[in-house]
Amino acid sequence: LLAELLAADVVLVGAPMYNYSLPSTLKAWLEYIHVPGVTSASGEHTPPLAGRPAVLVTTRGIAYDEGTHTAGWDHGIPVLRLVLGSALGMSLSVIEVNLTMAEHTAESESRISRARAELAQAHQTATALASRLAPA
Ligand SMILES: Cc1cc2nc3c(=O)[nH]c(=O)nc-3n(C[C@H](O)[C@H](O)[C@H](O)COP(=O)(O)O)c2cc1C
Repeated sequence: LLAELLAADVVLVGAPMYNYSLPSTLKAWLEYIHVPGVTSASGEHTPPLAGRPAVLVTTRGIAYDEGTHTAGWDHGIPVLRLVLGSALGMSLSVIEVNLTMAEHTAESESRISRARAELAQAHQTATALASRLAPA
């Protein structure tokens, strides 16, 4: 699996928030690609995927803004940053979309507008990253 990552021009990871963390299938993949001390070196060695680009796309039903009571409840993206970024050395870009459930729950109009704006912004960021990281 690590060899597949080595062969890729760019790695795209879809990481919807499930129960404040990563979907179990994605977590299982991490256990295959990152076995500390085996697939990543400790100490001063260069990480195995140093500088290779990865794009993380995260969607969450609600929001986890700084200064609100849900701040710090995201236990998914921080893990991906540690494993793919710190341990394996990849160069990460993160696209984040909050409030994806806003239209289906009793959210205010302003929260629904924010959800739509974040989704539109995410599409723009994705398009820009695609042309930079994987030019046709
Ligand atoms: C099993 C499950 C657990 C979820 N847990 C959370 C959660 O803890 N926090 C949150 O904000 N959204 C949660 N959601 C909502 C999803 O993060 C959100 O709907 C996301 O957009 C799902 O993306 P998907 O449709 O690609 O699976 C959960 C959804 C599912 C299916």
